[in-house]
Amino acid sequence: MAVVTIVGAGVIGISWAQLFGKAGWEVRISDPRPDLQEIVDRQLPDLPVRGVADLAAAASDADFVQEAGPERIAIKEQMFSTLAANTRDDVVLASSSSSLLPSVIAEGNPAADRIVIGHPFNPPELMPLVEVVPGTQTSPATVARAVEVYRSLGKLPITLKKEVPGFVGNRLQKVFNEQAFYLVQQGVITPQDLDLLVRASLGLRWATTGPFESGVLGGGPEGIRHLLTHVGSELTFEVGAPDPSKMDALIDEVENVYGTGEENYQRLAEIRDRRTRAILEPLDWQEPARGDRDQ
Ligand SMILES: NC(=O)c1ccc[n+]([C@@H]2O[C@H](COP(=O)([O-])OP(=O)(O)OC[C@H]3O[C@@H](n4cnc5c(N)ncnc54)[C@H](O)[C@@H]3O)[C@@H](O)[C@H]2O)c1
Repeated sequence: MAVVTIVGAGVIGISWAQLFGKAGWEVRISDPRPDLQEIVDRQLPDLPVRGVADLAAAASDADFVQEAGPERIAIKEQMFSTLAANTRDDVVLASSSSSLLPSVIAEGNPAADRIVIGHPFNPPELMPLVEVVPGTQTSPATVARAVEVYRSLGKLPITLKKEVPGFVGNRLQKVFNEQAFYLVQQGVITPQDLDLLVRASLGLRWATTGPFESGVLGGGPEGIRHLLTHVGSELTFEVGAPDPSKMDALIDEVENVYGTGEENYQRLAEIRDRRTRAILEPLDWQEPARGDRDQ
C-alpha cells in the first residue's frame, strides 16, 4: 500500500487524511499537539491512519507528502527542511499553503526541485480543485507526479503557469470577500442575507459555468462582447473597501449569526458537507470544458 505523510492534523490535514485513507493509501499524520492520538481516534476512525508526532519518523517511508501545517513561512521552511532530509529523492513534497510562494518555501532547501504547492479548497475531501503551483526550482517530474496523485484521488488538479501570491483562487476570493465585508459594514445587507444571496446566484452560477463562460451566455448569441459593451459599460461605480478599524464589530456580527465552538463547528460542517455532496454528485469534473468546441 502506498504511504502518504500528512503534516498537520488541523482542519485541512484531517480532511486530506480522510481523502487519502478512503482512497486506499496508508496514512501517517504528524503534529506536535498532545491530543494527536485522540484526534486520530475521533476523526479518522476505521481508516488506515497512524498518528506519528515526530515528523522525521512520519516521513521516513512516505511515497508522497502533503503538508498542512501552520501558514507561517518560518515554520514551513523548518518543516520542509526536515522533510527533505527524511524522504527518498523521488518523493513529492506538496504544501497546502493558501498563499505562500513555493519558491520562498523552497529557498535554500536541498530538495527544492521536489517542492510544489498543492492547494486545496476546504474541505479537500470534497472540493474537486487542487491548485498545483510550481516554484522556479520545481521539476516538471514533480508537477506531473502531483497531478497524477491528485487525479487518482478523484480531484481536479489545475496547474498554474507561474507562481503568484495567493495563487488564483484566493486572489479572487480576497477581492470578493472584501466587497462582502464592505457591504455589511455599510449597512446595505446582513451577513446571513449576503450568504443567501451568493448561494442563490453567483455560487450556483460559478459551480456550473465560471465567470467567462457565464459572460458568454449573459450576452446571448452575441456573447461576451455584447455583455461587456452594453450592460458592463454601465458598471462604472467605485466599489469602496472595508474599514479595517471596524473588522472586530463585523466578526462579532458574524459570530452572533453562526456561533463558535467545537459542537457548533461540527454541526455547520455537516450541513455544508451534505449540501456540497448534493451539488457535486451530478457534476462531472472530468467533462471537458464546454468551450472546447470540437468536443
Ligand atoms: N483552513 C482553510 O480553509 C484552508 C484551505 C486551504 C489551504 N489551507 C492551508 O492549509 C494549511 C493548514 O491550515 P489549517 O486551516 O488546517 O490550519 P490549522 O491551524 O487548523 O492546523 C494546523 C496544524 O498544524 C499543527 N502544527 C503546528 N506546528 C507543526 C509542526 N511543526 N509540524 C506539524 N504540524 C504542526 C498545529 O498543531 C495544527 O494542528 C495552511 O498552510 C493553510 O494556509 C487552509
